[in-house]
Amino acid sequence: MMTLLNQIMLFLTLYSLSERIVQSTRCEYLKNITVTVFQEKGEPYNQTINGCIEDIVFSEEKNVVTALTISRQNITHLEKYSVRNMAYIDEIIIANCVLQEIEAGAFSNLPKLRKISIGFSEIKEIGIDVFNVLEELQEFRIHNTDLDTIDKEGFASMPNLRKFYCDINKLEYYDSEWFTNSENLEILDFQFNKINSLPERAFFDLKKLRKINFNNNEISYIEPNAFEGVTTLESLFLNYNRLKMINPDVFTEKFKSTYFYINANYLNYLPKELLDKLTVKYISLDNNPWKCPCLEFVNRWLNVSNGTAIKSDSCIGSNLPVCLYPKQFTKVCNETIDEDVTKEYLSNLRNATKHKTDLNPYCFRLD
Ligand SMILES: *[C@@H]1O[C@H](CO)[C@@H](O)[C@H](O)[C@H]1NC(C)=O
Ligand SMILES: *[C@@H]1O[C@H](CO)[C@@H](O)[C@H](O)[C@H]1NC(C)=O
Ligand SMILES: *[C@@H]1O[C@H](CO)[C@@H](O)[C@H](O)[C@H]1NC(C)=O
Ligand SMILES: *[C@@H]1O[C@H](CO)[C@@H](O)[C@H](O)[C@H]1NC(C)=O
Ligand SMILES: *[C@@H]1O[C@H](CO)[C@@H](O)[C@H](O)[C@H]1NC(C)=O
Ligand SMILES: *[C@@H]1O[C@H](CO)[C@@H](O)[C@H](O)[C@H]1NC(C)=O
Ligand SMILES: *[C@@H]1O[C@H](CO)[C@@H](O)[C@H](O)[C@H]1NC(C)=O
Repeated sequence: MMTLLNQIMLFLTLYSLSERIVQSTRCEYLKNITVTVFQEKGEPYNQTINGCIEDIVFSEEKNVVTALTISRQNITHLEKYSVRNMAYIDEIIIANCVLQEIEAGAFSNLPKLRKISIGFSEIKEIGIDVFNVLEELQEFRIHNTDLDTIDKEGFASMPNLRKFYCDINKLEYYDSEWFTNSENLEILDFQFNKINSLPERAFFDLKKLRKINFNNNEISYIEPNAFEGVTTLESLFLNYNRLKMINPDVFTEKFKSTYFYINANYLNYLPKELLDKLTVKYISLDNNPWKCPCLEFVNRWLNVSNGTAIKSDSCIGSNLPVCLYPKQFTKVCNETIDEDVTKEYLSNLRNATKHKTDLNPYCFRLD
């Protein structure tokens, strides 16, 4: 039978063993890494590091490192405890570092860290306990990477997370469980990925969302009730996707957004039932293959509801088609997808833009 003393001894042994493991993590794989160090007082300076990145390697003085930029360094991966024990650090930027993998716990004991940005790297996956353990994190950005997988709960239960930017990556899906219980998120930005649909109740837990940006993705389908629970939106960006229609059931009830962007999709019409649920101040409609009676219907809806169609200056031109009449001429909007109209419209667009090299390539979805 184990005595209490034995148990205590065992506990102490295990405890000191684990302490030793942590301390013996010396990040020997981090060699000759130059970082730019920002301090509370005084000019930023560059320092070369061998080993873990932590306060004690920087200055003999007080720990006053407030930010680090690590750029153009040979860091293929960050192991557990590699960036740690920094009492005042507020921001970390890692860019152009051939980074492929970040282990769980790579960032540890950084109690004041509010911002992280990771860019221009080969990272493909964000696992759990890499970022969601950073309780003070308010702003996260990952951009220009090969990211195609974020584990469920990868950014869950982060009460301070306000802004999430994940632009110019390779995600093909969006999962609301990434953000379970991170209910103070205000901005979600997934521009320039390959996301092909929005799931139901995609933002249900996120009651404070102001901006949702899915511009420049591959969205062709929005599931029913996708926007359920979204109530305080200022802007919804869905430009340059592959929407042929937006079903009224994407909104569970009334839906309000100050700005609503649906340029450069394949829309022939917006259903009356959808417009009945929708309130906007500004809507951006350009460069969709509208059937003319359907575009007129949208304009009448705008007039009655005091909305305004806004034009994207860089994306309009006098010879660009605005809408087409379907073969079976009608004056009322026939709420059906008309592939013939779409085909002819796109062909017109191609012809009209063929010799204009200065046009923004994302004004039109021609592919
Ligand atoms: C450390 O890296 C710099 C470039 O960042 C390089 O010029 C230098 O030769 C390297 N030193 C060693 C010892 O590898
Ligand atoms: C640090 O190094 C980078 C690149 O080597 C250089 O552009 C920058 O000016 C340096 N910053 C300081 C504060 O010396
Ligand atoms: C980068 O670091 C890895 C080990 O982490 C090493 O194998 C590789 O040779 C390094 N590449 C360069 C260009 O220094
Ligand atoms: C539109 O504006 C007019 C005049 O400002 C106002 O009388 C009307 O109630 C508004 N309609 C809606 C649907 O807000
Ligand atoms: C709606 O149309 C009427 C008449 O065409 C016009 O006077 C009015 O300014 C329009 N209202 C809005 C909000 O566009
Ligand atoms: C609506 O369009 C469909 C297919 O494009 C066509 O079959 C149908 O006759 C049209 N209905 C009306 C009322 O024009
Ligand atoms: C586009 O141009 C091609 C030749 O350049 C022409 O054959 C075609 O009819 C044009 N399409 C439209 C819709 O004007």
